[in-house]
Order: sequence, then C-alpha cells, then structure tokens
Amino acid sequence: MAKAQSKNVQSKNDQEKEAAARASLRFVHEGDVVGLGTGSSAEHAIRLLAQRVQGGLKILAIPTSARSKQLATDLHIPLTTIDDYQEIDVTIDGADEFDPKLRLIKGGGGALLREKIVASASKRVVIVADSSKQVSTLGKFPLPVEVIPFAQAVIARKIASLADSVTLRKAADGSSFTTDEGHHILDCHFRRISDPAALAHTLKDMPGVVEHGLFIDLASVVLMGKGTEVLEFRREALEE
Ligand code: A5P
Repeated sequence: MAKAQSKNVQSKNDQEKEAAARASLRFVHEGDVVGLGTGSSAEHAIRLLAQRVQGGLKILAIPTSARSKQLATDLHIPLTTIDDYQEIDVTIDGADEFDPKLRLIKGGGGALLREKIVASASKRVVIVADSSKQVSTLGKFPLPVEVIPFAQAVIARKIASLADSVTLRKAADGSSFTTDEGHHILDCHFRRISDPAALAHTLKDMPGVVEHGLFIDLASVVLMGKGTEVLEFRREALEE
C-alpha cells in the first residue's frame, strides 16, 4: 500500500515536471542558442524541444552534462559548445529546491558545475519544477558541494562544523560518485539555510571547493507545475 502510494506521488510530480517543461518552450525562439539542463525535469524539456526541432525550429543547444548531451544527440538536436557561444539566449533546467527569492539548490543529479557555468552565461534561465521543490527556506534538500578529491576529507570536516551532517556521494557500485569534470560531491545536510549568500561565500572560500549548488540571482523565471496548472514566478517581479 505504502509503495503504491509513493508510486502515485512520483507520477504526479512527473506530470507537474512535464507540464512545466512544456510551458518553458515559449521562452525558446528561432535561432536561439539554448542551454540544456540535467535531471528528469530538464529531460522532459529536451524531449519536447526535440519535437519542435523536428517540426522545423532552428536552434543550437549546449548541454550541461554528458547525460543530457547523449539524450540531445539521440533526439537529433543540433549541438554546439560554450567555446563557440559564450552568450546563451536561454537555458532550461530543473532544481532541487527554490525559495520565494528564486534562490535554488541544484546538483542532485551531480551536474551543478556545468549547470552553473551555463546559467551564468545565459541571458535568461528558466527553471522547471514540480510543486515539491517549492520551499520557504532552502536546506531541506542536502546541498551538493563539488570538491577536488584530494581535498574532500578536509572540506568535509570544515563543513561538518556548520552542517548537521556531510556525506560523500557514492555511485551505484559503491565507489565515490565522480562528476563530468572528475570531481567528487559532498551532500551537506543543513536542514535550514537562513542566509544562502553568506553560506555561498563561506563555501567558496574553502580551498578545494570547486562549486556548490546554491544558485543565487541566476534564475529568471521558475515555472512550477501544480496539479493541472503551471505557476510562473519571475525574478523581475521581486525587483519591482
Ligand atoms: C542536476 O545536477 C540537478 O541540478 C537537477 O537540475 C536537479 O537535481 C533537479 O532534478 P530533477 O529535475 O530530476 O528533479
């Protein structure tokens, strides 16, 4: 019974992700360079975008992970690289959490470094999410911190003095999870991040930290599926 219930919850979340991904396509225009995020929400967007491309839409895409690159290649989306285009028109990506100021936790899928680079090079970042991702305060989801393997024990110890717990992410075979850039990830359970900007600063100051999953002032729009609706939250609305 419990299993059947959790299956239902998952499929509701997935429907919300798909609805949000569908809504995100209106931010993509003919001739755009499009950043492709990573994760199940971004995957919906990539599949829907591929249908548009098949229908004649001309875009070039920059994937944020090997996984998204493979999917886009399989679906015949024309690809380019950030070496060729340092300014990206729009990026569509998912998030693990977002708060009322559209600050995000990302990196549950392990692609936070490339995701942040692509987001920071994008004129507009559209986040697609299901309603479980909306929080009043970030931190329920463990914050991924990407580290150089040599430094992981030192950094884990430092972060442990600030967080509830720190776990080195493992791959399915029990070895350390390795990112596309060859780093490891520490999943840091804070439970409640009252000052995300201060924490971001503290983490960036630790030698060996490559990047962390706090995305501050990067999301332009969050599209959140909720039941049969898609709600839109815009950053400009916060700045008015
Ligand atoms: C990938 O590294 C992440 O940043 C994802 O965007 C995030 O984990 C959301 O994933 P889902 O869309 O699968 O929930």
